[in-house]
Amino acid sequence: MWENMWIFLSINTSRSLFSVCNRWCYAAVVCLLFAPVRMDDACPSSCVCARDSGTVTCRDGEDTEVPRDIPEWTSTFILKGRNISTLQRGAFSVNGTELAMTTLSLSYNRIQTIEPYAFLGLSRLHVLDLSHNQLKSISSRAFHGLLELRSLYLNDSILPPATTQLANALSAQSLHNLHRLELAGNMLKSIPLMRLDIYNLHALVLMNNSIESIGWENVTNLFQERRIRVYLSFNPFRCNCELEPFYYWLKNSSQCPDAGRLLCSEPEAKRGVPVEKLNREDVDCMKENLEAVSYVFLGIVLALIGVVFLMVLYLNRGGIKRWLNNIREACRDQMEVYHYRYEQDSDPRLANVAV
Ligand SMILES: *[C@@H]1O[C@H](CO)[C@@H](O)[C@H](O)[C@H]1NC(C)=O
Ligand SMILES: *[C@@H]1O[C@H](CO)[C@@H](O)[C@H](O)[C@H]1NC(C)=O
Ligand SMILES: *[C@@H]1O[C@H](CO)[C@@H](O)[C@H](O)[C@H]1NC(C)=O
Ligand SMILES: *[C@@H]1O[C@H](CO)[C@@H](O)[C@H](O)[C@H]1NC(C)=O
Ligand SMILES: *[C@@H]1O[C@H](CO)[C@@H](O)[C@H](O)[C@H]1NC(C)=O
Ligand SMILES: *[C@@H]1O[C@H](CO)[C@@H](O)[C@H](O)[C@H]1NC(C)=O
Repeated sequence: MWENMWIFLSINTSRSLFSVCNRWCYAAVVCLLFAPVRMDDACPSSCVCARDSGTVTCRDGEDTEVPRDIPEWTSTFILKGRNISTLQRGAFSVNGTELAMTTLSLSYNRIQTIEPYAFLGLSRLHVLDLSHNQLKSISSRAFHGLLELRSLYLNDSILPPATTQLANALSAQSLHNLHRLELAGNMLKSIPLMRLDIYNLHALVLMNNSIESIGWENVTNLFQERRIRVYLSFNPFRCNCELEPFYYWLKNSSQCPDAGRLLCSEPEAKRGVPVEKLNREDVDCMKENLEAVSYVFLGIVLALIGVVFLMVLYLNRGGIKRWLNNIREACRDQMEVYHYRYEQDSDPRLANVAV
């Protein structure tokens, strides 16, 4: 009986020992599998990781793709000086998981194309810097899913073929938290936004572009969105009467913090003159219009005089006929006298005398 008891106990303990071991073994295996990949040591090759600040920095290198193994704890990811010609769909999403990243800097990477849904899985991103690239093609769904994006930097980055595409991409529904949009140095000729009321925009930087004028429609929209500040220095303003609505907006709205530094580049006579210092007459369309109107008016008056003259002629046609007849009679008499004198002059005898 004791013997039996011992056997029973030993079986029991060995079973529980086994199950304990089982649990430990699983844990050990799990740790071994995931610890090196997902924890502190994991850092993409040729990158520098600072776990404390949550920053991963990858500078210069041969890679032509975004590293795939960005650690989950990353809050700031800086990729710079690489040759990444295309930002592919889901370039930052690992197997569809959301990253907690808040700042993504991708300047100086020779990016030319942004594919649709390139920033998938970055719904918590606050700052996106795409400055100093060479964007030729931007999908209209490039910025899809950036629900929390507050600052977007695209300085010196957009080549002319991508300008209209940019307007489409920026009208994405998801960008309604956008606070600051920087588009300096892109040779833009107009504001590349179709509407202003879909963003929470506070700052729009359009310095160093090719904007010659901003039409009344855009001025009206800017005036309505009073919180927006627009930076416009280093643009070649054409200071003629088309600038009128913009001129008054500049003078009156204080929405342009660098207003004092906006200069005319045309016409020749006003080159270098601050737009703010122009006189009202310089941008007065009424004067030009008045001149045009006065020419039209003069034309109409002359035409009326002509018509009246013709009417007078027509109504007096009887009198005129008589008058014409009188003239004809008078002419005939005159002609007859002349004829007579001619015949006398051409008398051969007289001619001989003359010779
Ligand atoms: C960058 O990559 C593209 C192809 O992705 C290649 O054609 C080009 O030569 C590369 N440029 C440099 C400077 O390495
Ligand atoms: C992503 O999923 C594929 C299979 O769906 C798997 O082979 C791969 O290891 C996963 N990658 C990561 C980083 O989890
Ligand atoms: C351009 O973008 C950078 C961020 O990369 C920002 O610091 C800078 O103020 C921007 N504006 C201009 C006009 O360069
Ligand atoms: C304006 O942009 C051009 C490139 O478009 C750049 O070369 C130049 O240095 C910029 N000027 C200023 C004053 O930022
Ligand atoms: C600016 O004006 C153009 C036409 O003049 C219009 O198509 C565009 O939507 C306007 N944009 C804004 C932001 O007002
Ligand atoms: C300037 O603004 C005031 C009120 O903000 C308005 O009454 C006035 O008409 C504006 N003047 C011009 C020239 O737009």
